Amino acid sequence: METADSIPYFDVIFEEFKNQDSVLAEAFGKHVHWGFWQDPEHAELSLESFLEAADRLSEQHFEAAAITDNMKILDTGCGFGGSISLLNDRYQQMELHGVNIDARQIDRAKSTVIAREGSGNTIDFKVGDACKLDYTDARFDVVLAVECIFHFPSRSDYFSEAWRVLKPGGRLIISDFIVNRPTSMLFALMCLPYLPLMKKYYGELGEPMTLSSYKRLAKAAAFDGYETRNITAGTLPTYKFLEKFTTATGPEAKEITKLYRFQHLISRLGFHRYTVLAFQKR
Ligand SMILES: C[S@@+](CC[C@H](N)C(=O)[O-])C[C@H]1O[C@@H](n2cnc3c(N)ncnc32)[C@H](O)[C@@H]1O
Repeated sequence: METADSIPYFDVIFEEFKNQDSVLAEAFGKHVHWGFWQDPEHAELSLESFLEAADRLSEQHFEAAAITDNMKILDTGCGFGGSISLLNDRYQQMELHGVNIDARQIDRAKSTVIAREGSGNTIDFKVGDACKLDYTDARFDVVLAVECIFHFPSRSDYFSEAWRVLKPGGRLIISDFIVNRPTSMLFALMCLPYLPLMKKYYGELGEPMTLSSYKRLAKAAAFDGYETRNITAGTLPTYKFLEKFTTATGPEAKEITKLYRFQHLISRLGFHRYTVLAFQKR
C-alpha cells in the first residue's frame, strides 16, 4: 500500500516482503542503505556478504560519532531501525530513539527491534519529520542521519533542528553523495538523461551538495567545523549486488540496470562521493 510519504523503492521493498524467497526483502529488511566492504575488489556478491556490509556502513557512522556506552542517540530517517538495532547489540545503558516520516516503516521497526531491547537499553520509535523534531532541546549526545538527508524537505531546517536537540559537545553524523565542485557542471550534464529514471526509482531528491555547501549550512546552524570520510570505494560493490538481484522484469529491468551502471560509473570516477560527515555542537 502506497502512502503520501512513500518513496518508490520502499514500495518495492514492501512488495518484496510478500515473497518468502526474496533476496531483496532479506537484503533490505533491516537497513535500507548501501553496503561498505573493506576489500571491495574481492567483495562477494552474496546476500550474506551484503548483510555484513550493510552493518559495516552503519558502523562507519558510529565511528565518526565516537559512540560509547551510556549515550542518548536519535536516528533521524531511521527506516526499519537497522542502525538502532545494531547500537542495541553493540552498546549498553543506551537511550535509543528513531524517527521516520513513513508510519509503515516505524510499525516494522517497532515489531522487529523493540522486542530485542537489551543490556539496560531503552528503545523508542516514532513517526515524524526529521525537520520538525518532537524532542526537547539539548537532549541527545548524537544525532544520526544515515543515507537519508537528501530526502528531507530542507537540509537547512534539518541542521537547525539537529543542533537544537543536541547537547553542547554533541555530534551530528550524516551521509550524503557529495558532488565535486570542479566537475559539478559536467556531472549535472551527465545526469540529465538519467533524471526521469532517478525520480521514478528514488523519488524527489534534494539538490546535490558540495563540501563547501555543507560547510556553509553547518556554520549557519552554529555547528563547529566538520570532519569527513570519503568511503565511496568501499560502497561500490552495492551497485553490482543490486544489478545481480533486481527483481524487475522486461523494460524495467533494462532501465534499472542502466541506472545502477550509471551510478557505479559516476561513483568510480569520483563525480559523486559517498561521504560521512561529522559536525559538533559547541
Ligand atoms: C535510504 S533510506 C535510509 C533508512 C535508514 N536510515 C537506513 O539507513 O536504513 C531513507 C529514509 O529517509 C526517510 N525519510 C524521508 N524523508 C523523511 C523526513 N522528512 N523525516 C524523516 N524521515 C524521512 C525515508 O522514509 C527512509 O526511511
